[in-house]
Amino acid sequence: MKVLVTGGAGFIGSHTCVVLLENGAEVVVVDNLVNSSEKSLERVEQITGKSVTFYNVDMLDEKALDDIFANEKVDSVIHFAGLKAVGESCQIPLNYFENNFKSTINMLKSMKKHGVKNLVFSSSATVYGKPKSVPIREDFPLSVSNPYGRTKLVIEDMLRDIYEADKSLNIALLRYFNPIGAHESGLIGEDPNGIPNNLVPYVAKVAAGKLECINVFGDDYDTPDGTGVRDYIHVMDLSEAHYAALKKLEENPGLVTYNLGTGTGYSVLDVIHAFEKACGKELPYKIAPRRPGDIDECYADPKKAREELHWEAKRNIADMCRDSWNWQSKNPDGYH
Ligand code: NAD
Ligand code: WQD
Repeated sequence: MKVLVTGGAGFIGSHTCVVLLENGAEVVVVDNLVNSSEKSLERVEQITGKSVTFYNVDMLDEKALDDIFANEKVDSVIHFAGLKAVGESCQIPLNYFENNFKSTINMLKSMKKHGVKNLVFSSSATVYGKPKSVPIREDFPLSVSNPYGRTKLVIEDMLRDIYEADKSLNIALLRYFNPIGAHESGLIGEDPNGIPNNLVPYVAKVAAGKLECINVFGDDYDTPDGTGVRDYIHVMDLSEAHYAALKKLEENPGLVTYNLGTGTGYSVLDVIHAFEKACGKELPYKIAPRRPGDIDECYADPKKAREELHWEAKRNIADMCRDSWNWQSKNPDGYH
């Protein structure tokens, strides 16, 4: 199996490269390193003892991308590449639309031209907007509230239309909940630019003494302790689900959609306390105002993925915090 991994130098992409290589796949990565470092791929090679073919190419460059398809003759594509910061997407929506849509369209044109039929797409639980209830099933109504989320929903819609027009395609839409953690070696992990927006990278920086205090965004939500509840999933579990999805696509299932979560929700305070155990110190936090756009709770019904992909998350919140902390403490400045 030869797989093109777009955005493969990024957080989830690099971990998925490890799983693919360990399962005997050949891996080709295209990434322009706008939000990542080539060092992640060196570390992937160090972990697996196998090599990755890397193209430092912007997927907006239609010709350069098509040359990769012409040279590499891949069987499948996993499409991680994209801009992903919710707040930034509200400030510069056009950049998000241009980058996320054009790169996807260029990729789909090359897949068509070179007869590549199998695609796994990184979607997000953000496409459920404010869910009517939890746990969230794949057939729940879809809506979005920010430009980043819109790119995910529109790309899902595009892929559904493209599949209707060509039923020989096999497409897996994977809706991730909240990926955290790192490879257990501590060699690869999440390396956000600047001050992290997401909870766990922020907590990790406070634990490392690089930021002073965690801001808990709201304690008056309709949840057991009043803080927001999310479905955190270990990035290695998530990566293993991508391999399971590729195996599924070999059965010619057509277009399939799966939630990737654990099915268990944890509050902000639960996460802070789990991280305290992992790093062995108390972490300062204060209650701050709600963050605009946040919802009370969001967690998956993971039954469909369990039944059809024969996959389920194996790692718990303690494992996630242990591995995030291991990565943070071994790499205080990320890949730099
Ligand atoms: P990431 O930023 O670490 O990885 C994305 C990669 O895509 C980066 O390496 C970046 O350099 C690359 N990229 C962006 N635009 C590109 C372009 N035009 N050409 C080539 N490469 C380009 O993000 P991640 O957390 O690994 O997320 C991977 C995917 O999963 C994204 O599509 C993201 O939207 C989606 N997702 C992430 C989360 C999450 O919380 N991390 C949740 C749901 C969905
Ligand atoms: C988790 C909880 C915050 C930071 C985002 C995207 C989503 C998906 C995953 C890509 C919430 C609270 C956070 C902090 C806090 N990404 N929080 N203090 O918002 O669930 O999901 O990442 O598709 O689209 O929106 O994740 O980690 O930002 O927040 O109290 O400093 O932690 O309010 O309850 P979120 P998050």
